[in-house]
Amino acid sequence: MSTSIGDQGAAAAELDLAAIRAQFPVLERQVHGKPLVYFDSAATAQRPLAVIEAMDRFYRHSNANVHRGVHQLSVEASEAFEAARESARRLLNAASTREVVFTRGTTEAINLVAQSFLRPEIGPGDEILITHMEHHSNIVPWQLLCEQTGAELKVAPINQHGELMLDAFEELLSERTRLVGVVHVSNALGTINPVAEICRMARRLDIPVLVDGAQATPHLKVDVQALDCDFYCLSAHKMYGPTGIGLLWGRERHLEAMPPWQGGGEMILKVSFDGTTFNELPHKFEAGTPNIAGAIGLGAAVEFLESVDLEAVAAHEARLLATASERLLEFPGLKLIGTASAKGPVASFAIDGVHANDIGTIVDHAGVAIRTGHHCAMPAMQFFGVPATARASFGMYNTVEEIDVFIDALKTACAMLR
Ligand code: ALA
Repeated sequence: MSTSIGDQGAAAAELDLAAIRAQFPVLERQVHGKPLVYFDSAATAQRPLAVIEAMDRFYRHSNANVHRGVHQLSVEASEAFEAARESARRLLNAASTREVVFTRGTTEAINLVAQSFLRPEIGPGDEILITHMEHHSNIVPWQLLCEQTGAELKVAPINQHGELMLDAFEELLSERTRLVGVVHVSNALGTINPVAEICRMARRLDIPVLVDGAQATPHLKVDVQALDCDFYCLSAHKMYGPTGIGLLWGRERHLEAMPPWQGGGEMILKVSFDGTTFNELPHKFEAGTPNIAGAIGLGAAVEFLESVDLEAVAAHEARLLATASERLLEFPGLKLIGTASAKGPVASFAIDGVHANDIGTIVDHAGVAIRTGHHCAMPAMQFFGVPATARASFGMYNTVEEIDVFIDALKTACAMLR
């Protein structure tokens, strides 16, 4: 896979933007009397009709529990649920659906690995290595685990561009390192990490690597076999699917060896008061009635991504990012936070003397939705010496004309706030 959205797009075809936008009903609405400009896709992307209709169809026609009934609706629900798992397998080029565990999202997937894979194996003297640009969901589960086990959390440094310092990262790897946790595309800075290279470095010492892929799957083609990682986590809602569903991909040999982390229905074969036999993969990790409609929505989101030319999407998003960055830099006192050479479509910035939240509120009145705050990446904010940034993040449906609207709204904000 390519690691740079810009590179990916070099020879790509043009996107049919009108056709793409027509698939997203919410883009037709107005906000404060102005056409919506949705620049908050890193927080959550909008949903295309295909996803909305797949979930609607399930509830209208086939709603039933999965894997439990012999009646027709249950059979249909089970088939749709497992078809979604197969779609998810294709998305990541996983070897088998046995390796695809549905979770509530990336956060739950990381917690599952922390508690089931690592907790039984780790103790004082052991280390977990993450990077300074991680989202809280790839920091706090490891901090909790360290408190529970006496292991130590190590943090690989980043440079002023928000890029991982690979030499320093490699030096922190040792026989004490029990797992590397790394974000594929940073939500706060946009940085695309060289995950395949990180995995190669870790592999030399036989250290497993977990990748937080939440921001990667809407923009990059991901191949877990080519990356050679051990775990890959994602959330459907970042990639045009529903909220409340995501997945953990894990190598089968790891998942086989891991104990279940939640007990209940679905994850068992046989229960008696003398003991319980657990279900086979991946059901061993899916206790309770799953988010069936969510999984079906996730499957529809994968099919939606398969229906577009991802290289053309990457080229388009790279153009949006380049245009926005160039226009933003014309503002006096504005600093882009995150200027990595390989970057996803995220423009985070801070303006001297102006609070990010005030910017967000004023541009909202022009119909422009951006996110302001620490983006659940407080250590990255601390590194850049800012409490918060304003962040415009793009999806495939955004246009260069929308950037004009955003820049005009930002000019108004600066005129009012300075
Ligand atoms: N972590 C999500 C974001 O980047 C919510 O906005």
